[in-house]
Amino acid sequence: MKKYWLCLFALVLLGCEVKKPEIPLFIYDMQDAYMFDFEARIQNQTNEAILLTTIDGQNSQIIQNEDIDRWINKKVPLLIINPVDRLSVYSIIEKAKKNGTKIIFFNREPLAQDMALYDSVFYVGADAAESARLQAQIIMDLFGNDTKLNAADKNGDGIIQAVILKGEQGHQDAEARTKVVVETLIESGYAIEVLDISIANFDRATAKAAMDNLVALHGQKIEVVISNNDAMALGAIESLIEKGFFIDSDNNGEIDRLTETWIPVIGIDGLDIAMEKIESGFLYGTVFNDSQNMAEAIVELAQLLIRGEDISGLSFSISDGKYIWINYKKITNQ
Ligand code: GAL
Repeated sequence: MKKYWLCLFALVLLGCEVKKPEIPLFIYDMQDAYMFDFEARIQNQTNEAILLTTIDGQNSQIIQNEDIDRWINKKVPLLIINPVDRLSVYSIIEKAKKNGTKIIFFNREPLAQDMALYDSVFYVGADAAESARLQAQIIMDLFGNDTKLNAADKNGDGIIQAVILKGEQGHQDAEARTKVVVETLIESGYAIEVLDISIANFDRATAKAAMDNLVALHGQKIEVVISNNDAMALGAIESLIEKGFFIDSDNNGEIDRLTETWIPVIGIDGLDIAMEKIESGFLYGTVFNDSQNMAEAIVELAQLLIRGEDISGLSFSISDGKYIWINYKKITNQ
């Protein structure tokens, strides 16, 4: 008799066990250094409540669309999407709407008119213009916070000669960062001459090759390298080391800015490896693109959406009923 009750109890337990909902997490390209790290943070955030399956879009919207279709057909309640092409999510939103599938987009912001197509679509990201304003502040610090400029103005002409490494064309971060960093300096009374803007798709190896080219074209005229992200800044540093713009004379793996040759390179993202390069003096500064906080916001929002609960209970503030904005932070070792 005792055995019977035990079995019944076990059965009830098994029967009542709530299966974790399996939710797809689409990443535009796992080769992207920042997104690789971001994906891990999202996965680390998902306690017992959800099972996230990561799907790599391999930088192809065609591949990502096919995967999204498959998951919509599986009738999952929610899609978490870092789109390959933020400008072509219209059809994804329409399809999800038809099937009642909710969406959280992140990192690559859809157009406002597409976001407006459906009530159950959200965006978690950071305001790219803010990262550019913080990057401009780092540049002002570098030039002594004085519009007359300090010794970082190598040729002493009172003008900042800069080259810019730009991320992917059309990406909201690449466009806004490139434009706003220059605008902020000008509005703050600084004279800046942009010697060149090279598109290097947020990618380290592409940026290394681009920097080789920029050095060949502008050489010692370059006073600062402004990069839309850390991966490209690191690629630029590789090139600049090869070309003798950094000389670690005592070979200790670090650049002593008082005694050794260096050139300021400034990134955005705050990758671990970039932080190491700041410590060792190769990277002048970066702006932290807070993927940890974004990951927390995504997972918390996902849980509420899956359970169909009111999102006003979220611990992050929501603007216009759809957007969660996470702040950037300025980082240097000055
Ligand atoms: C940006 C980030 C870049 C790149 C891009 C991908 O926010 O700064 O490094 O990862 O997202 O969409």
